[in-house]
This record gives sequence, structure tokens and C-alpha cells, in this order.
Amino acid sequence: MAEIGNDIQKAADFLLSGVVGIPTETVYGLAGNALDANRVADIFRVKKRPFFDPLIVHVHSQEALDPLITDFPPMLKKLADAFWPGPLTLLLPRSEKIPDLACSGLSEAAFRIPNHPLTLQLLQATGFPLAAPSANPFGYVSPTTAQHVNEQLGQDIPYVLDGGPSFVGLESTIVGLENGRPTIFRLGGLSIDEIKAVIGEVDVRINQSSDPRAPGMLKSHYSPLKPLLLCDIRSSLDQYRKQSPILILFDQLIEDYPIEKQILLSPNRSITEAATNLFSVLRQADKLAGEIILAESVPPNGLGIAINDRLKRASVQS
Ligand code: TXA
Ligand code: MG
Repeated sequence: MAEIGNDIQKAADFLLSGVVGIPTETVYGLAGNALDANRVADIFRVKKRPFFDPLIVHVHSQEALDPLITDFPPMLKKLADAFWPGPLTLLLPRSEKIPDLACSGLSEAAFRIPNHPLTLQLLQATGFPLAAPSANPFGYVSPTTAQHVNEQLGQDIPYVLDGGPSFVGLESTIVGLENGRPTIFRLGGLSIDEIKAVIGEVDVRINQSSDPRAPGMLKSHYSPLKPLLLCDIRSSLDQYRKQSPILILFDQLIEDYPIEKQILLSPNRSITEAATNLFSVLRQADKLAGEIILAESVPPNGLGIAINDRLKRASVQS
């Protein structure tokens, strides 16, 4: 198993020759030197990730980003100024410093400044940017604690920097330009409304394909091991009772069903809290006895749209 700790210098030392788990406000990342193709290859190997799915490069400041890009379109710069450090990733034309492997050979790479004090200090300590996908095996639920990382990748990495539970809980929102128009390619921890408040209209293109310009949007993703059905639980439950389902509900328990098989995303009816809890609730559901998971959509406002998107991708799709 990996060592878990909060020693920034130790993490920085391991990063000189390997990859480590790092905390961010969205989810935990599996980090390696973004400028070293060997470390980038290590990330793909440990995560069992296909090479056509490019990585996000993390930096501590816009100054550190400068040498890595060849242009910063004003519309995207406005978003960076408003939301960095934070749960926003921008697709920007990359300089030759970024190895092809990090961005699957695309002309743009994905960049963000994460909002977590330990990781910002770590980025200062290493002096190089960190490529980091979410620290889960490809296709599984993203980790929001150091323990989640250790459970799944602990055999393959020496160290997880423990920064406590990720407080946003959903991966960053990915924005780039398409035909000159600002476009969201992945819904995430920064809501559409927050983006619109800064730059006005924004297109949303989150189609489900293996097209690498549709980031992280492979049709099936974020999946627990048990089959998950997204449905109206109250009307569908009887149909599935024989399979002893585990229920994931937004804010209210169901009366005539065992309480130990029900998990609430937010007892306080808070969408933000539901986002924070989502991935640990999916992991918890996977561990409880029962053949299937039934989940209901949450109210589609603010981060609710991104939560429902994740639930849909986690669900069994026909
Ligand atoms: O919140 C997050 O974004 C977390 C934390 C660790 O920062 N990271 C994360 O990384 O979610 P990952 O690798 O699980 O998802 C990044 C997505 C990928 O699915 C990839 O398709 C997309 O970003 N992406 C990366 N570079 C891209 C590029 N140059 N063009 C289009 N999509 C890109
Ligand atoms: Mg991921």
C-alpha cells in the first residue's frame, strides 16, 4: 500500500522519479511531471487509461502557465481571472514544452490552477507542472479522499498526499473555444450559471463519444461495480425489490424500505453538499450488500446538472 501523509517535501521528492496521489478541491489526482514523457507514460500505465484520453496539466499560477501555451484567448483569460484557483479547466494552444502524450497529440492541452493549499505548495516545491487525471482506475468512480486513492492505486504508487476530503466533489468544468465560441466540454464543479455570469452565453457540447475533443465524455464512465439504474425510485422500487437494491436518494428516505440500504446525497437538501458527497456515496453503495443500485436525479439547478450528468454516465445504458 502507499504511504499516506501530508509531507509536501516527501511528495515532491517522489515526484522527481515517479507518480503520487495529490488532493484537489474537485477530486484526488494521480500526478506526475507534466514535462517528462516518461512520467506521463507512468500515469497512463498506473491508471490503465487509453492513450487517446488526454490529461490535465496543473500549475500554481498564470505565470507558471505562460511558457506552456502559445496564446490565451481573451474570453478564456477572463474565466481564468475569475475562477482560478478553482474547479475550471481551460483548453489552450500548447507550446512545445508539453509532451505529445500528455495531450494525445492534440494542438491544445488542458490546464488548471487547483484550489487546494497543499497542492499549490507542492507545485511551488517541485517547480514543474503536474499532469494529473483523477486517481481512479479508468472508468471507475473518482476518488475524493486519500483512502479512496489508496484502496485502488495503493499497490502502484509510493505516496498519497492527504489534504482531507475534496470539498467540491465533482471534477472540474472543462471550457475551450469551438469555432471561436466559448464551449463547455465537460460539466463539473463550476456551474454553467457561474460561467455565464462572467462571459455571457456559452455553448455546451457534452455529447457522449470517444472523440477526445469531448473531454471525459466517454459514454460509460464514473461507474460503480454494481449495475446502477437511474430512475424514479418511488415508482420503480417494487419492480426491483427481489434484487435487494441499494437506494441513492437526494434528500428523503423511503418509509417502507430498510434504512441501512438507503443513502442520502444531502439530508439538508443542498445541491452543493450532494456534489461533495456523490462519489463517496457511489463507493459506499458498491460496498453494501445488494445486487443493484437505484439512483434518482437531483433538482437540475446549479451543480445539479453536473450531478445528473455523472449519474447518467454511471448508469447502465441501453
Ligand atoms: O477536477 C479535475 O479536473 C481532476 C483533478 C485531478 O484536477 N482531473 C480530472 O482529470 O478529472 P481526468 O483526466 O479524469 O479528466 C480530464 C479530461 C479527460 O477526460 C480528457 O478527455 C479531457 O480532460 N482533456 C484533457 N486534455 C484535453 C484536450 N487537449 N482536449 C480535449 N480534452 C482534453
Ligand atoms: Mg477521470
